[in-house]
Amino acid sequence: MLITLEGIEGAGKSSQVEAAARFVRAAGRACITTREPGATDLGQRIRRILLDPACAGMDPRAELLLYLADRVEHVQRVIRPALARGQVVICDRYVDATLAYQGAARGVDADLIERLHALVLGDWRPGLTVLIDIPVAVGLDRAWRAVDRGERSPAETRFEKENRDFHQRVRQGYLELAAREPARFCIIDGNRAPGEVARDLQAAIADRLHLPLPDRGGNG
Ligand code: TMP
Repeated sequence: MLITLEGIEGAGKSSQVEAAARFVRAAGRACITTREPGATDLGQRIRRILLDPACAGMDPRAELLLYLADRVEHVQRVIRPALARGQVVICDRYVDATLAYQGAARGVDADLIERLHALVLGDWRPGLTVLIDIPVAVGLDRAWRAVDRGERSPAETRFEKENRDFHQRVRQGYLELAAREPARFCIIDGNRAPGEVARDLQAAIADRLHLPLPDRGGNG
């Protein structure tokens, strides 16, 4: 099964992806983690262009096509082979990011995004998509702190540099996607301690993969 994590900048997805994978492996299932953009050799080159602040002002449709190019390589070389081996794939961002960022925030027609995606990748979707939702001010503050601490390169801050309205449209876009497909999406409040977020994430994954939850005592 493909499980995707989504959210605005600073939602805390990256560390949650690793924690979720540890949980799945501890339950006895083989699992890989991956991300978009940049999971393949070509994808890393595309990522450098897409996240480079020097590329501000790129045409939104060019941006869309670069994300799609990254995704095609990723699906063909990483995701499909892993699923074929029976592994659980936990991916940091996928097509919903394109619908939220290039669609809702940049204004590219959602139907065009859907049609292009279906044309090159078919219309299958993840088995579970977890939206880690946080207020924009909180997310951007966390994201810039990560840059200040040297955890994220300034060369990857093209989206962090977008204004608050942009990020508000991304957040709203995600929430609308989740409302439209409640069976696939699970929304988790990311404005809490990482351990609490991880627990909710584990519960969502356990439910979808029929895994036992660790016994945490308390309310039985
Ligand atoms: P991240 O690796 O820190 O999540 O950065 C990836 C950036 O790319 C993030 O700002 C969201 C953006 N993005 C899109 O705009 N469209 C997409 O389809 C994907 C996968 C990411």
